[in-house]
Amino acid sequence: MNNITKARRSFLRNLGISALSLPFLDSWNTANASDLDKHFNRFGELDNEDFWFGIQQAYTTSPNIINLNNGGVSPQPQIVQDTFEKYNRLSNEAPSYFMWRILDQGREALRESLAQLAGCSADELAINRNATEALGTVIMGIPLKKGDEVVLSRWDYPNMINAWKWREKRDGIKLVWVDHPNTSEDDSELANRYIEKFSSKTKVVHITHLINWNGQVLPVAKIALEARKRNILSISDSAHSFAHLNFKMPDLEVDFCGTSLHKWLCAPFGSGLLYVKKERIADLAPLFPGEKPESDDIKKFETLGTRSFPTELAVGRALDFHNGIGSERKFNRLHQLKTYWTSEVTKTDGISVTTPKSETHSGAIALVSMEGVKPSEIDQKLFKNYGIHTVAIEWENISGVRITPHVYTTFSDLDKLIEGLQTIRKEA
Ligand SMILES: Cc1ncc(COP(=O)(O)O)c(C=O)c1O
Repeated sequence: MNNITKARRSFLRNLGISALSLPFLDSWNTANASDLDKHFNRFGELDNEDFWFGIQQAYTTSPNIINLNNGGVSPQPQIVQDTFEKYNRLSNEAPSYFMWRILDQGREALRESLAQLAGCSADELAINRNATEALGTVIMGIPLKKGDEVVLSRWDYPNMINAWKWREKRDGIKLVWVDHPNTSEDDSELANRYIEKFSSKTKVVHITHLINWNGQVLPVAKIALEARKRNILSISDSAHSFAHLNFKMPDLEVDFCGTSLHKWLCAPFGSGLLYVKKERIADLAPLFPGEKPESDDIKKFETLGTRSFPTELAVGRALDFHNGIGSERKFNRLHQLKTYWTSEVTKTDGISVTTPKSETHSGAIALVSMEGVKPSEIDQKLFKNYGIHTVAIEWENISGVRITPHVYTTFSDLDKLIEGLQTIRKEA
């Protein structure tokens, strides 16, 4: 057995050992995550692609489908699935005993571990079911009166736009819309598009950190700092940036931030996170009021009724896995995968990519379009002829196919994508 094979085996064994050696409520054990990180580092020194091979083997993706729509929702590594199943089976042995008396105790440790990754205090994080719930809580909970203005963009996510439109209808607030160039990497220009919409009536600015349509990254902190100077509250929709871009919540300088954990963290489906700056908690009304809706306890946003305990507990295992790779290394890999296929396909006449290029303004997501071929047609042909799953995007003036690799995506998967796109273009 050569060194690399030994290292690979040891890496896989280490994942197993880390699972077995943890105590009963185990899945967020950060000591284990850092052990894993040391091991990963050693492994990375041996051979970078071998390291990523190990990561790929941790997933159970279909051998028949190349999944390049990880932006929609991401798969979980085997160990996360196993953790979920373990706690699900346990819950079913005696649901109210195991879920409410035993597993419920795990949430505080999980909150601490999530706070480490988010770089904030645990008492600023509420664990919930997805970004829609997190951001919906903020949008519906900020006290606003008739005539107050909210600045948002036409590139924001539809669930959030619809929630704001409902407040416009219900409460008579005014929505002020921002437009900005989709491929710009000029932070001052992008920030100014928001700042120029601020007026004495503006109370809130809503910013999508990483735009789902084409993968563009916005200068959230720059906008939020200007908003703060004017006593305007700021919200970051970080559904696509958390555990993808390498940042901490306080770096964004916002008052509120919401994300899903089933996207880039690869946690179980239906897991999310709400960040509320400590001094903003008391004034934000919970969607589902408990006993003290006006308290400054972040847990007031967790009155969800019966929830999926196995899902929450397995979030900790996804955190371990993410920490094992490391935020910086993960981001670099994701950006590298995007750069690999985009730089190749744009050499072909008639194929263009509508996503910024740099590491400061993009991550793994990119949108590709083709002269003479509709996005839905590209999407269908990629699937039918190459087994590649993507998503066709038509939103405002954005039109193309969104391609989203993840840490388990291989270069040979991307070679197939390149070949597919070039052939579809040639045949057009
Ligand atoms: C920018 C953005 N915000 C919010 C969401 C909502 O996420 P979820 O469906 O997990 O609530 C999405 C989902 O794709 C998104 O892309």
